[in-house]
Amino acid sequence: FTVKWDLAAAEKGGFKHFMLKEIYEQPKTITDTISGFFSDLNNPVYNEIKNIQNIVIIACGTSYHAGLVGKFWIEKFVKIPTIVDYASEFRYRDFPVNEKTLIIAISQSGETADTRFSAIDARKKSAKVLSIVNVVGSSLSRESDFVIYTYCGPEIGVAATKTFTAQLITLLLFSLKAGLERGNLTQEEFEKYYNDIIHLPHLVNEVLKQDKAIEEISYKYHNVKDFLFLGRGLNYPIALEGALKLKEISYIHAEGYPAGEMKHGPIALIDENLPVVCIVPKDSLYEKMISNIQEVKARKGIVISVSDSQDSHLLSLSDNIIKIPSVENENLYPIVSVIPLQLLTYHIATILGKDVDQPRNLAKTVTVE
Ligand code: G6P
Repeated sequence: FTVKWDLAAAEKGGFKHFMLKEIYEQPKTITDTISGFFSDLNNPVYNEIKNIQNIVIIACGTSYHAGLVGKFWIEKFVKIPTIVDYASEFRYRDFPVNEKTLIIAISQSGETADTRFSAIDARKKSAKVLSIVNVVGSSLSRESDFVIYTYCGPEIGVAATKTFTAQLITLLLFSLKAGLERGNLTQEEFEKYYNDIIHLPHLVNEVLKQDKAIEEISYKYHNVKDFLFLGRGLNYPIALEGALKLKEISYIHAEGYPAGEMKHGPIALIDENLPVVCIVPKDSLYEKMISNIQEVKARKGIVISVSDSQDSHLLSLSDNIIKIPSVENENLYPIVSVIPLQLLTYHIATILGKDVDQPRNLAKTVTVE
């Protein structure tokens, strides 16, 4: 089976950079990925999932962060114990796998050497491999037992953006469908989640409208030396992703941390020169995040909140607020909250005059081990 990629899609289409174009494509790529997913509901992996006892997600870079979010959804809906590992680490340790282990290998390109060879080795030990890939016919897709595609078309910017949100949607839908097959969700519950998910392209469009405001914030902080990104639960991997994006394209040192862990080290870094990006949606961990933001503020850190909250308390603690829309279902927050971080890092890097599409020392696809 082949998917045609329009050559024109590989051009910048009026945008200054491929990265910005790809950020703006997300309402469409999310729609396409949802449609693609539903055209593949007979994927044999949903039969296999009934036999599976443990899941290992392996990936590199941004795909690894998608895996970290996916673990939450798999545990919640599929109810199978799941670990996530960097492919370059997983490969070289003696992790016990057997025919009841499902390896989920996530890779935009399907060519990342560490991810491919981890999957190949695990298969030799009789594990089953499901790959989530963007490039149709890529090596990993051919080396797997099962494949689910993301439908993003080519991604040219070295820093992954649209493929990350497509991986998240795919992992969420996979978890729901697998949960349905294992009897953890009813058909009605599955459909209710689906009805929430189809609002995502609209919600992402709402975030894109914040672009100008985000650019203004970027002008304020592009000259700093370090950034800290904090989140909790489903949004902790989004903090990691924000920090990775900033490092990759602006060369500013950045760390992502689970907010509750801040007091065990990173709090020592906080002073009046450190911007701290806090992902603080109105979800079940909101109050916990507020406590962490108070800890940042007490040490004079610069708080940039990404939130849908209008609470005066959050407003008074924040030096800057980037608004995101509220979502009915808190499982959708990571997909909405990563978009402002993509824009923030894009603007900081372009203000600094960096080549965002071709950052120094980085390759789009890493085929060396
Ligand atoms: C490189 C790219 C990253 C990407 C990672 C994994 O480091 O620069 O953007 O996230 O590889 O790539 P993959 O194709 O396996 O998702």
